[in-house]
Amino acid sequence: MGIQISPSILSADFARLAEEVAAISDAADWVHVDVMDNHFVPNLTLGLPIVEALLKHSALPLDCHLMIEDPDRWAPAYAEAGAKSVTIHAEAAKAPVRTLRMIRSAGARASLALNPATPVEHYEDLLGELDMLLLMTVEPGFGGQKFLDVVLPKIRRAREMVKGRDLDLWIQVDGGVSAETIERAAEAGADVFVAGNAVYGAEDPSAAIRELRALADK
Ligand code: DX5
Ligand code: ZN
Repeated sequence: MGIQISPSILSADFARLAEEVAAISDAADWVHVDVMDNHFVPNLTLGLPIVEALLKHSALPLDCHLMIEDPDRWAPAYAEAGAKSVTIHAEAAKAPVRTLRMIRSAGARASLALNPATPVEHYEDLLGELDMLLLMTVEPGFGGQKFLDVVLPKIRRAREMVKGRDLDLWIQVDGGVSAETIERAAEAGADVFVAGNAVYGAEDPSAAIRELRALADK
């Protein structure tokens, strides 16, 4: 699939979401939607009604990152609504295998996210259930945080596991991805890059996406 860029609308203007998404449609592969419930993470953003509204206005597929308690209850509804990728957190899911299978059967790509301190080795046997593994490169909850280099060895180990099993599994990184950090993440083995501040904080979001893609593709 090659390098993919998924700009996070967490750093966009929430009062103008449709326009903010349109502004990146020519350059991005996905729109990353951060759903936060103020329980799993100490921040509150948006939920299913806004995702449903956005689906009607977005030319790009939605990549929904659920930072919520009880993803087992909520995740399938995002897939049924039309999100093309749905990510649940390993730390929050009580029945991840069942929930990932429900996401897939609703027609979306199923993805599992791991916080910086969560070992990927625990999930090695589950990799075949996944279309994407999200390795958080910040503690989830807020945009604009600093990229955690301590996660780089885990990205490398995850890439080795995927190669060893010959799986068609994307490895996404999320948090602090910028022109300064994206090359390190790509070199370690990530191929899908979420970027909030680096895209929506830029003068020209599309140009920022093109720059990130070129750096990751080196
Ligand atoms: C953080 C979110 C990220 C966030 C990334 O918890 O999951 O998607 O928007 O923002 P930046 O790229 O600014 O770190
Ligand atoms: Zn995210």
